[in-house]
Amino acid sequence: MSNGAYAAAYEQSISDPNAFWGKAAEAIEWITPPTTVLDDSNPPFYRWFTGGQMNTCFNALDRHVRDGRGEQVAIHHDSPVTDTKTSITYAALLDQVSRFAGGLRDLGVVKGDRVLIYMPMVPEAVVAMLACARLGAIHSVVFGGFAPAELSARIEDAAPKVIVSASCGIEPTRTIAYKPMLDAAIDRSSHQPEHVVMLQRPQVEAPLGERDVLWDKVIEAEPADCVAVEATDPLYILYTSGTTGRPKGIVRDNGGHAVALRWSMENIYDVKPGETWFTASDVGWVVGHSYIVYAPLLTGATTVVYEGKPVGTPDASAFWRVISDYGAVAMFTAPTAYRAIKREDPNGEKKAAFDLSTLRNVFLAGERLDPDTYHWADNLLHCAIVDNWWQTETGWPIAANLRGLDPMPIKAGSPSVRVPGYDVQVLDEVGNQCDRGNEGAIAIKLPLPPGTLPTLWQDDERYVSGYLSVYDGYYLTGDGGLMDEDGYLFVMGRTDDVLNVAGHRLSTGSIEAALSGHPAVAECAVIGVADDFKGQIPRGLVVLKGGYDASTDGDRIVAELVKRVRDEVGAVASLRQVDIVPALPKTRSGKILRKTMREIADGKTPTIPGTIEDASVLDALADTLKHTVH
Ligand code: COA
Ligand code: AMP
Repeated sequence: MSNGAYAAAYEQSISDPNAFWGKAAEAIEWITPPTTVLDDSNPPFYRWFTGGQMNTCFNALDRHVRDGRGEQVAIHHDSPVTDTKTSITYAALLDQVSRFAGGLRDLGVVKGDRVLIYMPMVPEAVVAMLACARLGAIHSVVFGGFAPAELSARIEDAAPKVIVSASCGIEPTRTIAYKPMLDAAIDRSSHQPEHVVMLQRPQVEAPLGERDVLWDKVIEAEPADCVAVEATDPLYILYTSGTTGRPKGIVRDNGGHAVALRWSMENIYDVKPGETWFTASDVGWVVGHSYIVYAPLLTGATTVVYEGKPVGTPDASAFWRVISDYGAVAMFTAPTAYRAIKREDPNGEKKAAFDLSTLRNVFLAGERLDPDTYHWADNLLHCAIVDNWWQTETGWPIAANLRGLDPMPIKAGSPSVRVPGYDVQVLDEVGNQCDRGNEGAIAIKLPLPPGTLPTLWQDDERYVSGYLSVYDGYYLTGDGGLMDEDGYLFVMGRTDDVLNVAGHRLSTGSIEAALSGHPAVAECAVIGVADDFKGQIPRGLVVLKGGYDASTDGDRIVAELVKRVRDEVGAVASLRQVDIVPALPKTRSGKILRKTMREIADGKTPTIPGTIEDASVLDALADTLKHTVH
């Protein structure tokens, strides 16, 4: 199947990145073309397209309208939870975005200011993102499923001048009022935004305070033009979970991002201008940023903004209905969503009522695509089922089967090969390359390609210490795995304590912070254990302070702990099981042995470090660890 195009592209991208990315950059319209493609004057801080000026919103909207796509639908908003469907053309979207940008400008937002967006899956979220891009303001979208503690940490770090929000999000079983969570988050933050723009939704209207202004008023403004930005200026900050409670502000630049996403849309995802594509994720995650919003719009494609679930809105046919309603050529979601469908409709009977003849590829990412789910989907759908591996940090795939460039055979359990631009290597503990077939740490030789993080928001030091310090000259992905004889990567999971629950990346640290805030908790640990449905689920282990008795107070404390995590981090943490234990296993220097506990819980042979302080603590926990409530 391979026509050699992949090998040639990959080879050139590594040996001559200037030629490769210089050519890709021609797909973007520049105000001033870049003077340098790869700027390696200040390693390890590599920059792309230095000297170039452009505007991301112009490339996503204005140029398409100018070139005759004004009447093409840009966004289909499909919302089974409100029982509405709306289609917005490129011309209409440009009109809304320019006017909302004018409104933000009237509120004092200028190039370089941060605007935090805390919204559900409504088209206004996309309008707000693009309006920021139009002004050169830096947006920071926070997933609507995060509760005040997570939201507040992001407000504190990004210091937004304005926050754009909506009165509520809608889950299948309940509405979630955003305003009380937002107010609580702002109260906790030392940074105070000047204004909150509120989109009122009829399901729950928000009471407005002094700094609040209505979306409907803001969007009445005179339209704003695009502001020229440097290719290296930030487009957005997207916070992601590390192992500590403090989220990492991933910075995305304008120029490299536009070039990489535009290239990926045709070469990886095989979606061309004018075609329709459906990504079922959330604008609060990187998949949503890249493949609900920016890549399809930069390409002049039509994107579906879906406010619903794979099941329960109303049933397991939801995705098939959306694909057939809009004639999508490809869809993208997390494997857990397919497991949800499989659980409810194991034989895929619900698919029969829909015409899926337009569908060429289904892309899955966000967590490992397990072979069972792959085979199930492959048997059901008459199209390629394509795993792709990446992270918030990279913004677009590191490994994939390049469906537009050179489709290759698919191997279950593997996201296929290294994407052009990424010199991926599997390294052993001392930094030597592992033999093919042997597992190690997956690292990427610097420089990373365009579109990937240049640094962390206002924290170069943490960028270097968190990603670049283990292997000199390499970016550490945090994932472990292997490369086989054919160059296919197998990504087996995180080597650190980052959790991945139903495709949502969560930090052990922030869940632990919520647990340890309870007055009865002396110390605690959170581990992610394997789960057939969500991939991983968190479990909490807590040691009580003296004076509390597990046999009398235990049930109450556990219920309060579960509620605390829901209220502080969000329901999305899915923490249901907390065990009260006599002690936690540690090394002599006091490091809690989370990995060892996780291995016991997963039924694996545990790696017990020689530096363990007291092995009997671990023995006493073994039975508790082996009983996960799924
Ligand atoms: N706002 C508020 N609450 C949210 C939310 C949001 N945006 N998203 C999820 N939640 C809540 C859910 O309602 C649920 O609450 P509950 O405990 O009261 O039932 C809780 O958080 C856990 O949510 P989730 O882990 O999503 O489980 P689920 O059982 O509701 O749904 C799936 C399971 C598989 C349907 C769902 O996880 C899914 O569609 N996953 C796709 C993942 C994805 O898009 N990943 C992004 C990267 S591609
Ligand atoms: P996020 O930053 O939320 O996209 O999460 C990134 C992490 O999710 C990665 O570091 C992996 O651990 C995991 N991940 C994402 N996609 C895949 C995939 N296709 N296969 C295996 N793991 C994946």
